[in-house]
Amino acid sequence: MTEPARIPEHGRDAAELLAEIDRRHGEDIDWRGGRAFSLVYNVGDHVHEDLIEQVGVRYLHDNALNPFKYPSVLQMELDVIAMATGLLGTAPDAGSLTSGGTESIFMAVQVARDHARSMRGIAEPVIVTPSTAHPAFAKAAKYLDVEHVKVPVGADGRADTAATEAAIGERTALVVGSAPCYPYGVIDPIEELAAMADDRGILFHTDACLGGWLLPWWERLGEPVAPWDFRVRGVTSISADVHKYGYTFKGASVVAYRNRELLQHQFFWYDDWPGGLYASGTSAGTRSAAPIAGAWAAINHLGVDGYMRLAEQVRDTTRRFLDGIDSIPGLEVSHRPDMSLFEFGSSTLDMGAVGDVMDDRGWNLDRQQGGLHLMISPYHASVVEDFLSDLEFAAANHGESRGVQATYGGVV
Ligand SMILES: Cc1ncc(COP(=O)(O)O)c(C=O)c1O
Repeated sequence: MTEPARIPEHGRDAAELLAEIDRRHGEDIDWRGGRAFSLVYNVGDHVHEDLIEQVGVRYLHDNALNPFKYPSVLQMELDVIAMATGLLGTAPDAGSLTSGGTESIFMAVQVARDHARSMRGIAEPVIVTPSTAHPAFAKAAKYLDVEHVKVPVGADGRADTAATEAAIGERTALVVGSAPCYPYGVIDPIEELAAMADDRGILFHTDACLGGWLLPWWERLGEPVAPWDFRVRGVTSISADVHKYGYTFKGASVVAYRNRELLQHQFFWYDDWPGGLYASGTSAGTRSAAPIAGAWAAINHLGVDGYMRLAEQVRDTTRRFLDGIDSIPGLEVSHRPDMSLFEFGSSTLDMGAVGDVMDDRGWNLDRQQGGLHLMISPYHASVVEDFLSDLEFAAANHGESRGVQATYGGVV
């Protein structure tokens, strides 16, 4: 155990601190080399990276709490929301920018809770999600004191519509589907689920934190994409993270609604204190302006043609990974993914041990209960062959598993 840090009695030299930070940072995961499969969405383009870094530096000290003091930030925020809502198929004034997928999901659950209370007289609302829904829904249910009913998914890894229907009750405020879900990369049957909710006057959320900035391009490439956005009857809110396949740095997601009336359940106004009127659109108070500017720059720098080019690269690279894994004896992809992430496992091999050998060779594979998880970024195009040859070796030459737990996130 190292000693807990203390505030130094005398401030330290800036150059010395930077050197120390560089040394420490050097011990962190090397995502730039293509050996990390989640956490960072690696475009592998220095011009893109430099641009968003420069933009981040320019806005690092600015506070988006009061957008009216920052007309440039306000306009960029409105632009990002308008570009995102346009992509998702709703009105430009029916969305907001949050710090990430979890905050977007919190907002959608809070809107559903308050909508159920104020419009339907439900004192104790319930949310119904498939078992593959991101833990952010369970977390929102806990923090917002909403009951959470989890429905086991079908054999194909997708939400089970009959079981979901059976789980919907008088107090259901929100039904959820993912496009796609994190564990398997499959899209839930959003059309059926959302229609079921709509027929009963219940709100429906599509969690497109992963797919929101990729599936639209996937569809334009001619890939079969099951409907998931506002074109689907009954979808009332969508989360779509710009800091994932929108390719900006962390701190930017969009939560969008079918109309502004729903969004307004999110807004907070308060003047019952001596500090003047306080208003905010999301759960944050002080907000860094950097992610807003970064998101704006990333979207404008890439444009439709840039996103299409990267989507094609991600699609083709995902296929190369899938084909390669299919050809390695003993390994199988758990569920054919609808996008660029998936789980692979084995009925004969110890996947924990396979993961250990991959770790030893410098790959950082996330463990799940059913195997190992891959999430493909554009840059992975340059590491497919190395990865597959190490994986083939690991499948054929591994000992006992070191017992590395299946973890996602952490607490310090
Ligand atoms: C499907 C899905 N929803 C929500 C989230 C939560 O996003 P964040 O980690 O940005 O809060 C994730 C994160 O990976 C996700 O994959």
